[in-house]
Order: sequence, then structure tokens, then C-alpha cells
Amino acid sequence: MIISAPTDYRQAAKRRIPPFLFHYADGGSYTEHTLQHNVEDLAGIALRQRVLKDMSSLSLETELFGESMAMPIALAPVGLGGMYARRGEVQAARAASQKGIPFTLSTVSVCPIDEVASAIDRPIWFQLYVLKDRGFMKHALERAKAAGVKTLVFTVDMPVPGARYRDAHSGMSGKLGPARRMVQAAMHPFWAWDVGIHGRPHDLGNVSDYRGHPTELEDYIAWLGQNFDPAISWKDLEWIREFWDGPMIIKGILDPEDAREAVRFGADGIVVSNHGGRQLDGVPSTARALPAIADAVKGDIAILADSGIRSGLDVVRMIALGADSVLLGRAYIYALAAAGEAGVANLLELFEKEMRVAMTLTGARCIADLGPDSLVSGINHG
Ligand code: FNR
Repeated sequence: MIISAPTDYRQAAKRRIPPFLFHYADGGSYTEHTLQHNVEDLAGIALRQRVLKDMSSLSLETELFGESMAMPIALAPVGLGGMYARRGEVQAARAASQKGIPFTLSTVSVCPIDEVASAIDRPIWFQLYVLKDRGFMKHALERAKAAGVKTLVFTVDMPVPGARYRDAHSGMSGKLGPARRMVQAAMHPFWAWDVGIHGRPHDLGNVSDYRGHPTELEDYIAWLGQNFDPAISWKDLEWIREFWDGPMIIKGILDPEDAREAVRFGADGIVVSNHGGRQLDGVPSTARALPAIADAVKGDIAILADSGIRSGLDVVRMIALGADSVLLGRAYIYALAAAGEAGVANLLELFEKEMRVAMTLTGARCIADLGPDSLVSGINHG
């Protein structure tokens, strides 16, 4: 299949990987309205075309927490990301660092943190979930520190997992019995897997020794439900602060009041996110939520945004709406599934090219030039 647009990778991934894995990434929660709105609202935001401004020199570079980024993009934490290609998180991290942008490793990664961190030159970011076992969290933070991680992404929008019905249909969640064995058998020819799914319990990176092995995929989603902590509150963040002195980003903010709380708490950044429409279906798209949050806290805290970004134009839109930088989730997972490291590298090239065109035609010479003035006011379809 010929890849010419970033969105081509979705179809390519669908052809290449087993259905349960494709739908785990592609799907959202409940009726998937928020998932759909994330993409549609963002794509519907009207950019303001400007001409004849001598746009011969243009820079996409930016900086977050003293870390330089070749463009305002980081790869989002994606649980089980390592299943989408062999040692998938390592491949994605390589492509990101080659391009000069950060890679974030999920708490529920496949590859261990030290393996990913030592595969590239720039420090990776580490994402932490709140688990009932605080000892585990402390241990995870210690491992992250030892692996040279500086930036912590603390995800707060998953006190309980949202219901993802596609996963139930595909056999990704729930007890599968024979269906599961069929899926596993079907997967053998495609992967020389050593990721643990076939029962090597030691290898599920960060979660391996934890309350029953999700590696056996008895019921991964149920495992999340048992171990994640609905009692999470701002106090837990204070507890984490004691162990973490580097930059801390709170991921999963969707309301200006919570954004203000994050500033009061002393967070270094927030990710405006609805978890890619995978948690509470029915909440606003991030394109819709972001402007009010930017009004409330822009300049007080770094604002990152994700959910629904499928093109370089979408990145430009998010920045114009008030983000300092974005995270890519599914966009890079599809590319990873379709073509591994080379796929992610090519995807990032395509994003860069699209951003350059969009910035040239909106008259923005640098990332700081993008703002509300880059949009046609009144026609924000969000
Ligand atoms: C995620 N996301 C996520 N977030 C997080 O903080 N920790 C995690 O382990 C995961 N796992 C995960 C798995 C899969 C398959 C997906 C698609 C997403 C959410 C992710 O970081 C990000 O917020 C969304 O993916 C952004 O939306 P888009 O870009 O995928 O639409």
C-alpha cells in the first residue's frame, strides 16, 4: 500500500495486525461520540490564510522545560504500544529521538523502561498511573529516575477504565477461552514475539510482577480496573512530588477549574486530553475544551494537548487554539503497526511537511506566531 498522507497508516495498520489489536488502538469508549468529535471538531477549525509575507525562513523548533524539540510534538504514552511492532516502544522511541522530539513510555508498556531509555540519546518521558499499591508507584518512579527520566507525565483521567465495547467484541477484554487461543495461534506467524503474550511472564516491562500477570492477557482491562485507584486526589500528587523533583505534567485535564488547580498545585504542565475518547464518552472534544483552558492558565503553566490529531494541520490548529505542544497517540501507533520505526519516522516527516505548509500560508514564522489570530474567528466548528 502506498503511503502518501499520515492518515494512510490507519488502513495499512488494519491490514497488518490482528483485529483485536487494531480495535484496541482504534476504538474509544461507549458509543465513541467523543472519539469522533475529537477528530471532526479539530479538522473543522478554520485556519486564517495570509499571503505575501515573505515566508522564506520558518522554524518549527520549540522548548519545553529546558528541553529543545525540533517541532512541538511528543509521542503520547500508549499502553501495550510494544505489541504493535517487535520491541515496539524501542522502535517508536528511536524514530522520535531521530526526529528530535520526546517519546513517552506508558506505565503499562511492553518493553522495560531501561531498555527503551538506553536505546536512545535523549531522555524519555515516563507516564505514571495511580495504582492502589503506592509501593509499586514509588518503585516505578525510582526505576524511571535510574533510567535518566526527567519529565513525568502523571495521568489522572483513569481512576476507573471506561467501557470499551470494541474490546469486548474483539476479545481484547473479557474471558475468551477458545477465542483467545485462536487469536494467539493466528498471531504466531506474524511476530517472533518475545513480549510475554505467549506466557513469558518476565517481560511485560513495568508491570511484570504486579498482582497477577496481565501478560497472560486473561483480561487486561479487568486487570486495570482491579489495580487502578478511584480514590486518587490532589493529595496523591503531593505524595508523588516528594519523590519527583523533575518537571511534572498532569495529563487528562478538560476543565478550566482543574487547570487552575494544577497551577495552584505547582505542576509544570498539563495535557488537555480526554484520553483520545477512551474514557468518558460524551465529554467535549479537546478542540472545544482547549480555548477556555488556555484563557484560564496560558503562560502560568505549559499547555500540551492531544486527542484527535491526525495531521500536521491539526497540530497547527491545536497550537493556534492555545497549546504549547501536542502529543500524538493513534497517529503514530498506526504507523508503528504498519511499518515499525521507519513508519513512525515517515509519519513525523509527513507531519513536519504539513506543518510547514500550514504555517507558511497562515503567516506564522515560528511556533510563537501561532495563536487565536491564526484562526478565522466565529467559524470554529468546535
Ligand atoms: C492510550 N492513552 C494512554 N494514556 C496514558 O496516559 N497511558 C496509557 O497507557 C495510555 N494507553 C493508551 C493506549 C492506546 C491504544 C491509545 C490509543 C491511547 C491515551 C494517549 O496517551 C493519548 O491521550 C490519546 O491517544 C490521544 O488521542 P489520539 O491522538 O489517539 O486521538
